[in-house]
Amino acid sequence: MKISEKTWGGRFRETMDEVVDRFNASLRFDHRLYAQDIEGSLAHCRMLAEQGIISREEGTVIAEALREIKREMERGDYKFDKGHEDIHTLVEKALIEKVGAVGEKLHTGRSRNDQVALDIRLFVREAAQRVVFLIKEVQEALVMLAEKHLDVIAPGYTHLQRAQPILLSHHLLAYYEMMKRDRERFLESLKRVNIMPLGSAALAGSTFPLDREMVARELGFDAISKNSMDAVSDRDFVLEFLFDSAVLMMHLSRLGEEIVIWASKEFDFVILPDALCTGSSIMPQKKNPDAPELVRGKTGRVYGHLVALLTTMKGLPLTYNKDLQEDKEPLFDTVDTVEQCLMVMAKILRGTAFNGERMRKAVEEGYLVATDLADYLVRKGMTFRKAHETAGKMVLYAMERGKELAHLTLDEMKSFTRKIGEDVYSWLDPSFCVGRRNIPGGTGPDMVRKSIEKAREELSS
Ligand code: ARG
Repeated sequence: MKISEKTWGGRFRETMDEVVDRFNASLRFDHRLYAQDIEGSLAHCRMLAEQGIISREEGTVIAEALREIKREMERGDYKFDKGHEDIHTLVEKALIEKVGAVGEKLHTGRSRNDQVALDIRLFVREAAQRVVFLIKEVQEALVMLAEKHLDVIAPGYTHLQRAQPILLSHHLLAYYEMMKRDRERFLESLKRVNIMPLGSAALAGSTFPLDREMVARELGFDAISKNSMDAVSDRDFVLEFLFDSAVLMMHLSRLGEEIVIWASKEFDFVILPDALCTGSSIMPQKKNPDAPELVRGKTGRVYGHLVALLTTMKGLPLTYNKDLQEDKEPLFDTVDTVEQCLMVMAKILRGTAFNGERMRKAVEEGYLVATDLADYLVRKGMTFRKAHETAGKMVLYAMERGKELAHLTLDEMKSFTRKIGEDVYSWLDPSFCVGRRNIPGGTGPDMVRKSIEKAREELSS
């Protein structure tokens, strides 16, 4: 491109170095912002006309051409690969090509600095809304499974060692709660995204009597930015989106990891549908859980994007610096990754079959009821420390004989303390163990049923 064709070419004598021109250009990726860019320009144009900065007729001509350009871009008529610096200059050039000199008025009172800030805010706002919707789909799948498997008792783990019996539903609803906070985080952050920066111009505001409130209203923003220098130089709202995404991915990754280990022969707790798995090119028997593995694996790049942008931002003097152009690829890739992972996770959950019998068997081996035995002894008048020690000794005794606690005879048990009676056996039954934890937040079936009801309410509101 000749230097005279650049939007800023006036003060330049020499043509831009080709390699640097390509290095500088962002069109290759920021063309994704074309719809937001044109929406923003339309609002700016209406405001210019309303304020008499351009005439009504000029406003109409510009607006019509912008809408046409948008339709053409939607149809894919534009090649977004070379020639132009970024989406903002491309749209402006296209406008001027269509309507001539009138088009040259659109950028009055505006800079690409506030323009790009606006575009990204619009983009993040839409992305966050889509992500919130997709999180809900995952939550719905979790609640559906929790409801369906209310009768399944599973081993609960700490340190990946069998710990206490729980309801599978309770385990699933733990992820429901995580997703709920994730959803809240995105919605919370929206408050800070939904601020309108146009009118900040390059950095100092504008000499034109721009009606910023009008532009904010037209574009559905809650407020206008309060400081033009802040508005064009910060990307904390992008960072927040990346952070919210990183935490969400961490949760999805943990769920993915659990599904992967549950699908192993060692656990054999779940069976994934064929449609979500792949085979091996050499081992004919293999069925691999690629989908949850990839959810887990893709978490890394999202963390990376957060750290990348944090690092890009950390040394920047006010106000706009070209470094800020590096906000886009991490953001775009994060949005794509998060959306994909949420969609895939919802599919995985909907398609997974749980092996309740295996889980039940796992609960019956490994002394998961030992805490209940200690609690029982407290009921019979022991201090908790003494009860813990006594139950521990009984576990050791049973282990040495290759038995579970419930298989000890009453006489054997009484040899540890006279306080034990026939009623101890009900305390050693996993169903009773679960049933007794009817405390708010506990795994007791009544509580879990209430949680499911509550979740249903939350999802329908
Ligand atoms: N492509 C640029 C970006 O993404 C747009 C803003 C350019 N502003 C400037 N003063 N060069 O940040």
